[in-house]
Amino acid sequence: MRINKFLAENGIASRRHADGMVSAGRVKINGRVAVLGEDVGEEDEILVDDKPLVRAEKKPEYYIMNKPKGIICTVSDDRGRKTVMDLLPEGAGRVFPVGRLDYATEGLLLFTNDGELAYRLTNPKSEIPKTYLVRLEGTMTEKDLNPIRSGVELDGVMTKKCRAHIVETNKLYTKVHITITEGKNRQVRRMFEAIGKNVEFLKRIRLGDLTVSGLDRGEVRPLTEEEVAYLKNL
Ligand code: URA
Repeated sequence: MRINKFLAENGIASRRHADGMVSAGRVKINGRVAVLGEDVGEEDEILVDDKPLVRAEKKPEYYIMNKPKGIICTVSDDRGRKTVMDLLPEGAGRVFPVGRLDYATEGLLLFTNDGELAYRLTNPKSEIPKTYLVRLEGTMTEKDLNPIRSGVELDGVMTKKCRAHIVETNKLYTKVHITITEGKNRQVRRMFEAIGKNVEFLKRIRLGDLTVSGLDRGEVRPLTEEEVAYLKNL
């Protein structure tokens, strides 16, 4: 099998991105730097950035989780803390989270060992809409959301236009639905910080047409074939 396909199937990167990694000399086969288009077999030892590549199971697997807050979104933690991986069902293969949610954020999180799909879903160029329920302190008006809708500056770059509307507001708090197509680090929290608002609660409620309805906090289920097909066509 070609090295780029091999890397994609093992969840490292899309085929195109894998080519870039090979060209950059980041991939080694049996101790020497791989070249573009090279074939690899079962017996070959592959290193990516000098770390041994652990082969993923062949069968693609896809799960959807309603992540609770207070749990980290990583495959392993060097301090031994509980991670989202601990919530996966026994017998789940070597899947990994698609993108990430902060420690304090809850809601929709996908897992797969399908590197190609994961790469597409997290690539900002794919512009996959992700909707969040945000609770902010105090009352707000629709007009207050205008800077959020047109874009705020994060790390010197403007966020893309997005949809946002108030679902409830009173003296104590305001609930907003916001749909973004990017996935910058802590993007939603930082967008509201940029207009002087502190996010009290954050939940991802939708990715494309997928929702976590029917899943309690911490629950996981495999995606249906229809859902997988839908994601592949997004
Ligand atoms: N935006 C955030 O600020 N945090 C998340 O976890 C996801 C989106």
